[in-house]
Amino acid sequence: MKHVLTCKHNLHCEKHMRTERPNDGRVVLVVDDEPQVRASLTRCLREDYQVLAADSAAAAFEILDRSPVDLILCDQLMPETSGVEFFARTRVTHPEAIRILITGYTDPEDMIRSINEAAVYQFIPKPWQPDHLLLTIKRALESRELARRHRFLSRELKFADDVLRRENDVLVRQLQDVYHFDRLVFVSDAMAQVCNLARKAAATDLPVLIQGETGTGKELMARAIHFFSRRNTFPFMAQNCGALPDDMLHSELFGHKRGAFTGAISDRLGLFPAADSGTVFLDEISEVSQSFQVSLLRFLQEGEVKPLGSDETRHCNLRIIAASNRPLKELVEQGKFRQDLYFRLRGFELQMPPLRERPDDIPLLAEHAARKYGETINRKIAGISSEALRLLRAHPFPGNVRELENEIRRMVALAEDGEFLSAKHMSPEFTCLSPDKADAAMAALLQGSRTLKQKVEALEAELVMQSLLRHRWNHSRAAKELGLSRVGLANKIKRYKLDQKQAQASRR
Ligand SMILES: Nc1ncnc2c1ncn2[C@@H]1O[C@H](COP(=O)(O)OP(=O)(O)OP(=O)(O)O)[C@@H](O)[C@H]1O
Ligand SMILES: [Mg+2]
Repeated sequence: MKHVLTCKHNLHCEKHMRTERPNDGRVVLVVDDEPQVRASLTRCLREDYQVLAADSAAAAFEILDRSPVDLILCDQLMPETSGVEFFARTRVTHPEAIRILITGYTDPEDMIRSINEAAVYQFIPKPWQPDHLLLTIKRALESRELARRHRFLSRELKFADDVLRRENDVLVRQLQDVYHFDRLVFVSDAMAQVCNLARKAAATDLPVLIQGETGTGKELMARAIHFFSRRNTFPFMAQNCGALPDDMLHSELFGHKRGAFTGAISDRLGLFPAADSGTVFLDEISEVSQSFQVSLLRFLQEGEVKPLGSDETRHCNLRIIAASNRPLKELVEQGKFRQDLYFRLRGFELQMPPLRERPDDIPLLAEHAARKYGETINRKIAGISSEALRLLRAHPFPGNVRELENEIRRMVALAEDGEFLSAKHMSPEFTCLSPDKADAAMAALLQGSRTLKQKVEALEAELVMQSLLRHRWNHSRAAKELGLSRVGLANKIKRYKLDQKQAQASRR
């Protein structure tokens, strides 16, 4: 690009000269009252820079006011004003231009004064050497460019941070509209409906049956019902019925007499008598044997407890809350659970909705968990990035709230103090199947010149793989989601040669 440089004060060949603008287009202004010096400096620099020249400070200001200048090269000794005085003024009027002083003196005090007053970037001693001069100018422009980029990036970073903070503020405001039922937090209508029913149940003394997938908050719900009931000043005791064989469970709940069985070295008060007037939570009720179902039914009908090895019965005033991951109705239909016990247990029946059916609760529960675990390990978490929230919302959460809590706990542990939780802190299962990546994979499959059969097969392989990834390669869950038998799924895995490690690696 040709540029016409005009300066009425220039006395030399650079006056009104046509200069080939160099590639990077950076402009150096030479200020010196000596025509020969201006000419030789111009010759030295014009290969690399666009050079403007002025014979005095006044002429230099005219140029500076008219065109942008990246660097000023000025002689210290000039008739009207010194180089340092000129630079002290340009520091105010044109602070962005780098100032380099050419001087015959190198008195240290003068140098310090000029650095302080005029922010001179560098001194070039006379007689100046072309190589040294070119290198100094190159370095000066590079460091200014770096400083400029640094300023730009800092601003961008601050801006990005502001966006995150604003998004987070919205979330915090939403958090204030959050509903609580004891320690259960939620915003979704689905949870609000269950909790409304639970409040009604709490006001009665009827047994409650809480059903729902693992990690949906059944135990938290049972505690909430106890807390909101008139029994809340009496004990709440929980027993996992799935973990014990029959006689042990009997002994745990009803107690035993010394010598009732081998190892019963003393009397034991069971959980039922110990929780008298309070609430007993029977978790995994679907797992108890038929004979234990009979004992339990008897207790529910008569309210009486007979410890193992004892002839005496004792009356216990209890509210029973039972929980199950498996739908009891189906077990009744299959003849695996007594219908009369099922009817007894379901004074109120609460169904905890899985997390994937109430995605609005995900950001809230994630924030809640981030705060909880942040406090536990004394780490300040600034919030959760919108990208991370998007990935969390897209996840199917087979392990429900417990899985979400575990993921957030891991993210909090990986984050630095004061940092936002973001996608980089997430486990591969969450990031390997982001909706964008899944869509891109689908789109790629449908392109190209394959036959219909090949495309259908590729699509099937992709859908099976996505389901497996979503369920961390758990065959039963993926088969259920896809409506296949486990054998059917295994055949497809074999046929399409699906491999967990490869699939995860390809989605990262
Ligand atoms: N709505 C909720 N608000 C806050 N925390 C929740 C909520 N739901 C579940 N949690 C948390 O999720 C975890 C699992 O909850 P809980 O043990 O009550 O589930 P569960 O349904 O009994 O699971 P499982 O069937 O595996 O026993 C707990 O740490 C609990 O605090
Ligand atoms: Mg539980």
